[in-house]
Amino acid sequence: MSDSPTRVLFVSSESRPFASTGGLADVAGALPVELNREGIPVDRIMPLYRQVRDRMERHGNSLERTGFTLRIPLGNDQVSAEIYSTEFEGARTYFVNHEEYFDRQDLYALPHREYRDNFIRFLFFQKAVVALIDAMGQPYDLLHLNDWQTGLVPLFLQKGIFGTGREGREKTLFTIHNLAYQGTYPAVHLYETNLPANLLSNYPQLEFYGQLNQMKAGLIGADQVNTVSPNYAREILTEEFGCGLEGVLQSLERPVTGIVNGVDIQDWNPETDPTLPATYSAKAFTGKETCKKQLLAEFGLTYDKDKPLLVMVSRMVEQKGFDLIGQAIEALMSLPLQMVVLGSGQEQYQQDAVSWAKRWPDQFGVRIGYDSDLSHRMEAAGDFFLMPSRFEPCGLNQLYSLRYGTIPIVNRTGGLEDTVSDYRQNSAEGTGFLMTTYTPEAFIDCIRSAMSLYHHKPEFRKVRQRGMRQDVSWKKTASDYLDLYRSLFA
Ligand code: ADP
Ligand code: GLC
Repeated sequence: MSDSPTRVLFVSSESRPFASTGGLADVAGALPVELNREGIPVDRIMPLYRQVRDRMERHGNSLERTGFTLRIPLGNDQVSAEIYSTEFEGARTYFVNHEEYFDRQDLYALPHREYRDNFIRFLFFQKAVVALIDAMGQPYDLLHLNDWQTGLVPLFLQKGIFGTGREGREKTLFTIHNLAYQGTYPAVHLYETNLPANLLSNYPQLEFYGQLNQMKAGLIGADQVNTVSPNYAREILTEEFGCGLEGVLQSLERPVTGIVNGVDIQDWNPETDPTLPATYSAKAFTGKETCKKQLLAEFGLTYDKDKPLLVMVSRMVEQKGFDLIGQAIEALMSLPLQMVVLGSGQEQYQQDAVSWAKRWPDQFGVRIGYDSDLSHRMEAAGDFFLMPSRFEPCGLNQLYSLRYGTIPIVNRTGGLEDTVSDYRQNSAEGTGFLMTTYTPEAFIDCIRSAMSLYHHKPEFRKVRQRGMRQDVSWKKTASDYLDLYRSLFA
């Protein structure tokens, strides 16, 4: 056997530029492309959401029919999966189509609730992945799986999608992007998997307190498990961050490893970014000030050079620290600063942010929604980027911020701790501010320190420049993944 995979299939529930709700899509969009550049052929596969079709139409790209129409068993039913594909940036992407499941307004949920049939939708997707591989004549020797929507794939590789067994030789790497989402559903669904009925009682890989847990199945079923930062790889072995799966993670034969995500440095480049009103570099910041002025105007706020601008682009969920901001908002708004937020998610957090914009109209701006171009303009406009996450497997926005000279203010957790070095601990090397504890007091304390740096202009500039010079590209990440891939074939 060779010491390297010859062809890899990257399996994920979302990928840029086709359909995206968060960081997983950024990773799925960039890593396969970078690995292809390194000489390892990597294809992708994902569901054919309405967003994919819309995007292809907008950009005049075409979806090609592959000619593969697969019959997918779901219990006693058989549902057909049509496979489309396209080539983008040198990587081939396969799309699994079934209109009833994927031609919808959103990927996973409506604003107020998850789609009721998510178990079936992603079960269908996972079975289609294995069915396609078989229909193609098993061309892949490694499957790179991502998050719970792919957790059953190792089981189907072994047992087959009819549960009757399968001859296969593929290795599997399972990457945890977020352990908090586990794809746990009632055990009655076992029937739709067509897996042997005794699996739940006799096998530990799927059962979790009487339910089906797809994350757990992925952790146990894959040849290797990794996650998106070394620090999170350690944290998830503890009760505090393990989301109930710390015991499973501790008992894996091959320890969980961590590789920090990278940044698409072409897409995120302040010197060339076409979405910005003015470009800039680490040597010339004038354009950045123009971006700040324009963004403030866009949000109806008045520019004041003495007030730092704090920006935040985020899914509005508990993970990201919106509860903490809520507790600190009065203290925060009593400081001479301005803040703008872009995000969407839980109704309560959306309402909170809208109410703060009403209460402090000269200081606080908000946009509810998902807007990629605006997120670039915000990264460029900010003096500081706020990311007080309760936990953070890796985090990408702090990396974009470093690259845009927007100093990150983050909680000391997960990938944030791996990628931002604390100015207060080491002013000669610091690139941002890390909270000492997850409390409103520690948060405000951090903001105060950041503000005093803001008013020391030469030093402020130095810290900005240091961040902008940090290597956050995919190159190192891709080469670490390559080593991990190879370790499975050694
Ligand atoms: P997570 O994946 O947990 O949401 P990350 O920091 O890894 O967090 O990645 C978030 C990604 O999603 C970034 O690319 C960020 O810019 C993008 N993003 C999140 N919310 C929005 C939004 N409302 N509009 C535009 N981009 C967003
Ligand atoms: C998840 C995590 C985030 C990470 C992203 C990509 O959504 O919440 O921290 O950066 O996946 O790996």
